[in-house]
Amino acid sequence: MDGDTGTTGKLPETTATGAAPDRRPSRKTVLRAALAASVAAPIALMGVPALARTASVTGEAPALTPECDDGDDPTPPQMEGPYFKPNSPRRSSLLEAGTPGTRLTVSGYAFGSACLPLSGVLLDFWQADVNGAYDNVGFRFRGHQFTDARGAFSLTTIVPGLYPGRTRHLHVKVQAPGRPVLTTQLYFPNEPRNSTDALFDPRLLMTVRDTGGAREAAFDFVLNVPQTPGPGPTEGPTTPPPGGTWAVGTSYAPGVRVTYGGVTYVCLQGHQAQPGWEPPSVPALWRAE
Ligand SMILES: [Fe+2]
Repeated sequence: MDGDTGTTGKLPETTATGAAPDRRPSRKTVLRAALAASVAAPIALMGVPALARTASVTGEAPALTPECDDGDDPTPPQMEGPYFKPNSPRRSSLLEAGTPGTRLTVSGYAFGSACLPLSGVLLDFWQADVNGAYDNVGFRFRGHQFTDARGAFSLTTIVPGLYPGRTRHLHVKVQAPGRPVLTTQLYFPNEPRNSTDALFDPRLLMTVRDTGGAREAAFDFVLNVPQTPGPGPTEGPTTPPPGGTWAVGTSYAPGVRVTYGGVTYVCLQGHQAQPGWEPPSVPALWRAE
């Protein structure tokens, strides 16, 4: 299969409009409260936004994660390329029986301009297969999903293959309800072709780590959706129901029990409770009894 310089009549992805911008986002303070929680165990990372996840593993915030602290730097768009197809199936896993390739999960959140998570955001992914080919007949490696009530998404797929003229990438369209579509691409760190692909943009780098032969990637989208800033960057739409003993700001040690929504939970990982980390939302931190 050839690359995106196909015969569909659309602009090939290799027709870059210019060199990748030199600007690199500075280390940011997004989710400062989450970082302060020092949730270090990988299993505890599931419910933590991408920057906090990486920082808790490496002890240092990555330099190339999209910033989300001042509301003026949404995730940049990129060209669609020739291989988008509408009407992809709704599914969070693009794996099919016998699918070859290195397993890849991509998880993260969609935020608005004030770093508040956005639920119900459409994410439509498409990518090349292990050989660098797009399925233009059917819908292999195409699928859409919506962020959940916490603004989170998770994609299960394979690491896309390379094809001529491009570095390794995923395509995605992201759309908050009633808002314009953001079309962009996501990139992998440490790819030799990142330095020669004119479309490559370091602001669109995922954080990726190897996990026993598979890869686990994280990326948070920042959409140009007006929001009223709240008191904390992880403040979400979720409001704890009354009657529980769980409380934001409390430091919980492993083994501590709380009640939330009429259910008793035992703490699995020491952490400081944050908005959006209500026990039912973070199974890595709390187990229902
Ligand atoms: Fe592509």
